[in-house]
Amino acid sequence: MSIPILTFFNNKGGVGKTSLIYHLSWMFASLGKRVVVADLDPQANLTAAFLNEDQIDELWNNSVEGSTVFQCVKPLTGVGDITEPKLQQIVNNLYLIPGDVALSSYEDTLAGEWPKSMADTNLYRPMRILSSFWHVMQTAAIKVDAEIILVDIGPNLGAINRSVLLATDYVIIPLGADLFSLQGLKNLGPALKSWRNLWQKRLNNWKSSSEPSHYPNFKLPTGRMQPIGYLSQQHTVRLDRPVKAYDKWINRIPQVYRESVLDGVSEDQTFLPENDQYRLGTIKHYRSLMPMAQECRKPIFNLTAADGAIGSHANAVLDAKKDFKELAKIVGEKIDLQL
Ligand SMILES: Nc1ncnc2c1ncn2[C@@H]1O[C@H](COP(=O)(O)OP(=O)(O)OP(=O)(O)O)[C@@H](O)[C@H]1O
Ligand SMILES: [Mg+2]
Repeated sequence: MSIPILTFFNNKGGVGKTSLIYHLSWMFASLGKRVVVADLDPQANLTAAFLNEDQIDELWNNSVEGSTVFQCVKPLTGVGDITEPKLQQIVNNLYLIPGDVALSSYEDTLAGEWPKSMADTNLYRPMRILSSFWHVMQTAAIKVDAEIILVDIGPNLGAINRSVLLATDYVIIPLGADLFSLQGLKNLGPALKSWRNLWQKRLNNWKSSSEPSHYPNFKLPTGRMQPIGYLSQQHTVRLDRPVKAYDKWINRIPQVYRESVLDGVSEDQTFLPENDQYRLGTIKHYRSLMPMAQECRKPIFNLTAADGAIGSHANAVLDAKKDFKELAKIVGEKIDLQL
């Protein structure tokens, strides 16, 4: 049995993915779940949210084997194999596989192995490389006895993200209320479907070859990538824009989600965003609390008066705790994670 992997993905950037994963992982951990968070975005923003500059500097410049996700897969770019990940413990129950700007150089390796994995022979190496993120994350989760793995990736449809997605069991799509987010959703749905199919072909090719008998202990991800829903982000609402403009995009999401991500929708059906079963929630705009939390390297809901969360901020902190607890509960139910 593998540990479930939940990836947050939208190929439209800046929709609050990283902030969301940061908060949700803290919330799962504080609710008693053991969590591994993997930063697979070469921008490494999630790593910067968890660790301070000195810690990151040490990780990136000392090149210790297994200390970042890139250090784990780097030997595969030569003749070596995956290095076991060294995790950073953030708090009780919460562990990070640190990201690395150097990971971007792995994009070409992954892209090069993709066609080779459909050849008739010599399939082990390409399949090992294409599933390397899955192996690193599973090893990490087993090491710390985690029940769930949360993954952050960059906003694109490149080879790194394809490899992350084929390792993924569940996908959540954070969306802004704007044209670009909706357009992103239209590209993303077909990409998920195509990657799911193409990975299935590779699994079949592998199984029908003679190689599994040479590598009896080699496991591969199933490529499930099940979309469990979307989250709309209130923070992308431009305050100078009338609410109507925001509503226009929000109202279109349920239909586009069904058409692009699911298997379509019959024409006579209309869905209201407020009672759409695929809408997991709305992320509020936390305004100055977000930079305050980033500065303190804490989630918003753990800010205290000593951090500057006084007066109306203190109430907003309590609200944020309620909001993220509710979101953790909703997401937990969708992925069978007992909270
Ligand atoms: N709920 C929120 N309230 C206020 N500000 C937010 C909220 N969520 C995110 N932000 C801010 O919006 C900016 C973008 O957020 P974030 O980095 O989480 O997005 P992203 O989708 O991960 O971006 P990218 O596509 O570049 O990876 C950041 O400056 C962050 O602090
Ligand atoms: Mg990000």
